[in-house]
Amino acid sequence: MLITLKNILKIAEAENIAIGAFNVTSLEGIRALFKAAEELNTPVIVQFANEAHKQYISLSEIGPVMMQYAERSKVPACVHLDHGANLDEIREALELGFTSVMYDGSALSYEKNVAYTNAAVELAESYGASVEAEIGSMGREEFLSAGGSAEDAAVEGAYTDPQQAAQFVEDTGIDALACSFGTVHGIYLSAPKLDFDRIKAIREATGKPVVMHGGSGISDEDFRKCITNGVRKINFYTYAAKFAGEYVKEKADAQKGNVYFHDMALWAEESMKETYLHAIRVFSGK
Ligand code: 13P
Repeated sequence: MLITLKNILKIAEAENIAIGAFNVTSLEGIRALFKAAEELNTPVIVQFANEAHKQYISLSEIGPVMMQYAERSKVPACVHLDHGANLDEIREALELGFTSVMYDGSALSYEKNVAYTNAAVELAESYGASVEAEIGSMGREEFLSAGGSAEDAAVEGAYTDPQQAAQFVEDTGIDALACSFGTVHGIYLSAPKLDFDRIKAIREATGKPVVMHGGSGISDEDFRKCITNGVRKINFYTYAAKFAGEYVKEKADAQKGNVYFHDMALWAEESMKETYLHAIRVFSGK
């Protein structure tokens, strides 16, 4: 059942849980995700980060498949564009039927971020879709491996300011706010130190669901603390891909004789389903 981000986050709010938002780059990931969500009878967000992942597959190829699985899913499912870079990309996702888009203007000045986010909100509204936007920066491609001291300092310097977040929400009318409070995308080189009080302050100042990016590498205990403080959407990708890669390698190494790609695809799906099951259980308290 297809649902907007706004409505899926209402479920999260009512149940005091976070909804897992999983990036997909292949059919195996999509199949694994819907199998895991349906097995746990839990709402789910399937998302595509076009800027980061178009080298693997295009939005026009994977988008219709994401839509098909969400439409026929037994659990509420939102189809979301992650880190939308410009209005053309956002329009393409909305034309495909995506029920939510992120506009990421976090690298821009406050004024430009507000102006482009407003344009994204207006466009998404005309399709009945929701909008996530970002203030502060939790690290983009340049922080693919984060946690070194220079990177730590850069990321900490860009933590979201609660008062500015409140102003941003008022200036834009978005449905969910991506914030920086200590997580980064990709692999952590040193243990992440999360600012739980900041999440709470942002939550109280804005009244909006807080989105955590960079879910890979966060402990189950820290996820629970983030949710208690107001995180309602958790973006997760790298570890599902990493664990699947390790599992496929292990199975292929143990195989006697030929290794066939169709088996590798199934092994990857099997592994991703296990990763998603674990993450969804933690995020939903099941
Ligand atoms: P990870 O790849 O670190 O799990 O983060 C995913 C993400 O935040 C996508 O926006």
